[in-house]
Amino acid sequence: MRLDGKTVLLGVTGGIAAYKSPEVVRALRQAGARVRVVLTRSAQEFVTPLALQTVAGEPVAAELFDLTQESEIGHIDLADNVDVILIAPATANVVAKAAVGMADDLLTTVLLATRAPVVVAPAMNVHMYENALVQENLAKLGTHGWQIVQPDSGALACGYEGPGRLPDAAVLVDAVAAAVAPKDLVQETVLVTAGPTREYLDPVRFLSNRSSGKMGFAIARAAAARGARVVLVAGPCSLPDPRAVETIRVDSAEDMAATVGREGRRATVVIAAAAVADYRPATRETQKSAKKKGASRLALEETPDVVATAVARKPGRIVVGFAAETSDVEERARGKLDRKALDLIVANDVTAEGAGFDVDTNVVTLIDASGSEALPLLSKDDVADAILDRVARLRAKRPESAPGRKNR
Ligand code: PMT
Repeated sequence: MRLDGKTVLLGVTGGIAAYKSPEVVRALRQAGARVRVVLTRSAQEFVTPLALQTVAGEPVAAELFDLTQESEIGHIDLADNVDVILIAPATANVVAKAAVGMADDLLTTVLLATRAPVVVAPAMNVHMYENALVQENLAKLGTHGWQIVQPDSGALACGYEGPGRLPDAAVLVDAVAAAVAPKDLVQETVLVTAGPTREYLDPVRFLSNRSSGKMGFAIARAAAARGARVVLVAGPCSLPDPRAVETIRVDSAEDMAATVGREGRRATVVIAAAAVADYRPATRETQKSAKKKGASRLALEETPDVVATAVARKPGRIVVGFAAETSDVEERARGKLDRKALDLIVANDVTAEGAGFDVDTNVVTLIDASGSEALPLLSKDDVADAILDRVARLRAKRPESAPGRKNR
């Protein structure tokens, strides 16, 4: 997700994962943010101010009573002039100090003085992380509106295994973007389909396509960041489950249709980005079929149309489809908009440079009853936000039919 025009204050505290903080700075800047850094004294045992200053492109702040920094930077300036604060890694010590409102260094003073949202990424030894006092402190910060990014589980620097690892920089960027995103979808339950389907000929062979799931996963992440409850129904792809999203993995078009039919009941918005197979082998062998001499013919039958058949048209439900096309893109997309009774269709010319399958960018035209809007080449995260902006506008046009959280 993008952070253009946002200023992020990164607070780095003294855990071993502090060595990853230059990577976090780089990822935040790549997402478009200006990054200001505050280092605690113990963090400087793991990473130098010079390293962070070099990647941030501006001076880092370290001391509360450094006269130069106080005149040139100032803790109130830091507290006031940032859009969001990320503490990564956050040690048990800073979590405890923040939870009781202590302000004995620059970072904790800024945390007390700021009105910006705060995102905390705890990273520490598993026994420390699981200690009831640390958990109570994190829970307390949560009740005060701080976003807690759960640590990853795995091999820790201390030699133990378990939760305590600092998540990847991309996960931290998403958490920061979610903290500053408009919360305009809090009333919605959004069901997103993503990825390809597999239609099996026998236990080892299948028909499929090149969808990576990136477009649908970007929509799911963006909808969650905007406050929606999100269910992601994903065909086979290698992307990890997005955080704060209920992800259900499926295989075939039939699986996807059954899952969408079941899970879709509570959805107020359905966005079908999956590249679902239109046909499947008419028979599925139970054993691997042996090679036969000469040419062979494959009999195919139609798959269920997930969006046209599994998604019940209910008053207030907004249904968005995609149309992956290689010619007559708008015309064909309009045909699908009508035939599938959609509220909005995302026409995707998959022959355009940087568009379509298995890339991080896309080129789409949004088409609904009011007309069409061609978007330039954008990241899939930005396309996701543009689609959700349209969903929010469609909802605003018919607020009387909004299902709301009570119907979930
Ligand atoms: O996953 P990525 O690598 O990021 O690639 C993204 C994408 C190219 C897959 C995506 O942007 C896209 O265009 N998805 C729709 C692909 C497609 O199969 O379109 P279609 O024109 O065949 O289908 C039209 C609509 O009906 C789609 O919303 C599709 O999800 C839906 N459909 C199609 C067939 C079927 N049996 N059931 C369906 O629900």
